[in-house]
Amino acid sequence: MNQAPSAADIVAGAVEQARMGQWYEFRTAPQFIVGDGVSARLGEILAGRGVGHAFFAADPAVVSLGLMDTALRSLRLSGVAATIFECLPGEPTIQMVEEASASFKAAGAGFIVGFGGGSALDTAKAMAALASGVRLEEIGALAGRHLPRPGLAAVPTTAGTGSEVTAFTVITDASGRHKIAARHPCIMPDLALVDPRLTHGLPPRMTAITGLDALTHAIEAYVSKEACTITQALAHRAVMLAFRNLPIAAGSGDDGQARYAMAIASCMAGMAFSTAGLGLCHAMAHQLGARYHLPHGAANALMLPHVMEFNLMVKPAEFGEIARAMGVSLSGLSEREAAEASVAACRRLIRDVGLETDLPGKRETEAGLLAMADEALTDICAATNPRAASREDVIRLYRAVLPESR
Ligand SMILES: [Fe+2]
Repeated sequence: MNQAPSAADIVAGAVEQARMGQWYEFRTAPQFIVGDGVSARLGEILAGRGVGHAFFAADPAVVSLGLMDTALRSLRLSGVAATIFECLPGEPTIQMVEEASASFKAAGAGFIVGFGGGSALDTAKAMAALASGVRLEEIGALAGRHLPRPGLAAVPTTAGTGSEVTAFTVITDASGRHKIAARHPCIMPDLALVDPRLTHGLPPRMTAITGLDALTHAIEAYVSKEACTITQALAHRAVMLAFRNLPIAAGSGDDGQARYAMAIASCMAGMAFSTAGLGLCHAMAHQLGARYHLPHGAANALMLPHVMEFNLMVKPAEFGEIARAMGVSLSGLSEREAAEASVAACRRLIRDVGLETDLPGKRETEAGLLAMADEALTDICAATNPRAASREDVIRLYRAVLPESR
């Protein structure tokens, strides 16, 4: 008769299962509401949660364009007080997050709402992390620890970052040249309220830039080393939706169906990458964006085709599936040709929506390239890239988008 396994055997088996990648943990925002006009429900939802005073981290343009008016009216009707902190334009800095945190404390509010593009949402999420008493730089090492924080909601006004459903935030450090990408379950919003109508007035270039960010999330999550069945299903569908709808949303901004589809694509890609992680494109784009002050999605658009080309030899079947999701006919193509077709389709989309494919006029020194490569390789996103990259690989990929540094 076989002996029953000991506790040590069970633990060893469990650890082996985890090592083999058979276990995974999937998280998303516990309350996710999507629909045209749904921001009108924010007051009722917050009141239902017992919130008496909400603190908004908001984009100034969103405030001045009146995009928050409906939501704020709903708070008044529901008896919820509101304090608004207008974030500085551009990517959030650690100084601004600290300033917002001080205003939050002074206001005495009990709940944080990020309302705007990725920067406002990232600010709100970083504020929540700081309120737990931990520095952003150290939060990644505390992944297994519960960090109590105030309630947190995210209302996106762009379709790109997926920040409303992720446990990531990206903040520029005090020097202004480096980005801190922090990941922790406590950064995941409690509520994601997605109102695609808020994106209708977004100009074509901003639509293209943010949409390319969503597409990059989906592609990197799909081929990530930590991809699982759930994240791949979300990422695959997000590629399909973004590919079909981004050109329409960028070229015909008031197309409600395309805007709705892009909002969903952005969320699905966010749900996928929050668990699966990203890859070398984001790791490299973070440095490029910080160095040349490029919008995040534009930096991704520069790197994406090159990093896809670099990665496809280790995930040819997956890149073929990406090509299929992009609507490419794979009939008669070999596995390698199908994978390469995804790169060609991606380049075509980037050109169609008017984004740059390189940075003419930017000359980078050898020391500058080395520094960027080293930063990229230690970026949190590089860890889940499917292909191991050397410093020389990364420098070669940077040179591909810096024609005067070749
Ligand atoms: Fe991104």
